[in-house]
Amino acid sequence: MIEPVYSPSPDRYASMEYRRSGRSGIRIPALALGLWHNFGSHKPFQDVKAMAHYAFDKGICHFDLANNYGPEYGTAEENFGRLMDISFRPYRDELLISTKAGWDMWPGPYGNWGSRKYLMSSLDQSLRRMRLDYVDVFYSHRFDPATPLEETMQALVDIVRQGKALYVGLSRYPTDKAREAYRYLAEHDVPCLLYQDRYNIIDRAPECSGLIDLGEEAGTGFISFSPLQQGLLTNRYLNGVPADSRMAKGVTLREELLTPTMMKALRGLNELAMKRGQSLAQMALAWLLKDSRVTSVIIGASSVPQIEDNLKALENTKFSPEELALIEEFSAPIQLKELPR
Ligand SMILES: NC(=O)c1ccc[n+]([C@@H]2O[C@H](COP(=O)([O-])OP(=O)(O)OC[C@H]3O[C@@H](n4cnc5c(N)ncnc54)[C@H](OP(=O)(O)O)[C@@H]3O)[C@@H](O)[C@H]2O)c1
Repeated sequence: MIEPVYSPSPDRYASMEYRRSGRSGIRIPALALGLWHNFGSHKPFQDVKAMAHYAFDKGICHFDLANNYGPEYGTAEENFGRLMDISFRPYRDELLISTKAGWDMWPGPYGNWGSRKYLMSSLDQSLRRMRLDYVDVFYSHRFDPATPLEETMQALVDIVRQGKALYVGLSRYPTDKAREAYRYLAEHDVPCLLYQDRYNIIDRAPECSGLIDLGEEAGTGFISFSPLQQGLLTNRYLNGVPADSRMAKGVTLREELLTPTMMKALRGLNELAMKRGQSLAQMALAWLLKDSRVTSVIIGASSVPQIEDNLKALENTKFSPEELALIEEFSAPIQLKELPR
């Protein structure tokens, strides 16, 4: 059977909110789609395609990848390359596509961390897998304590000069190193577009470390990853661990987290969400988006209905002082203030 050519919804920009990233000229959808889990070789390509098409049809024009997303390393980028060929090529200029290098990707000394050699060769591989000439944002995926910061930053600058990325970003940097990096990049006329970190009702590390304030000062946007703490901040685990869930796979989200304290907090938050007329996932996303310094929130999803549910968060991102106080009260016992980096 010949499949119909993908034709995106003509209304795709009607209901999404686009926020300016720091002091740049770029606006980013308030919700972006991340391809860390659920978009690699273990997922039927039909599902990958359905989620990506649905997202783009709803104005989610930012797709966030990394060299090692899959979970089979590289396979999320390969699937994205297939999507470029069969669906998205005519819409390339409507898409903001990011990828990263910084974590382990291939064996030996040149397939990890922050050297110029790794960043440059990894991006070349990513471009081949994604069948792209350039990415919109290339990130240093984590700070490398053993490589001079100048080497990593100069590699980012040169990648932009070579036309392989339009903008650069950083993820998982300690505050003082992010400050130095922003300065270096600005002095070389490649201001940092985005800082990416885990931030949600449970994980408050970027607030406590001053990274959000620093971004505002430097003119760098802040983009939150794992806004639902990998699914904890949803109704997914309120009644046990579903067989098809991320926790059941036990790799990046472990069942030990479901302590009585955690369950009590999640139930309290869920009740509050219901009173607001939202799902817990919607309230968790809205809680992030209430802060205008948060440029965007990268959701993960394993199905189209999850993306549909999450999009409804945009309908109410306002909180009364009483609601905010209750969120603090319920989440205080499970909040993380600092994470190992
Ligand atoms: N820079 C970095 O170091 C870094 C690190 C991690 C992630 N990221 C980026 O951030 C993206 C998002 O991370 P994440 O996947 O951890 O995000 P997340 O949004 O916190 O978690 C996504 C998971 O939550 C569940 N879920 C989502 N919507 C739901 C809903 N409405 N109802 C019930 N369950 C729902 C699904 O779990 P099930 O699969 O169980 O259905 C989904 O896979 C990644 O894809 C990646 O692009 C970056």
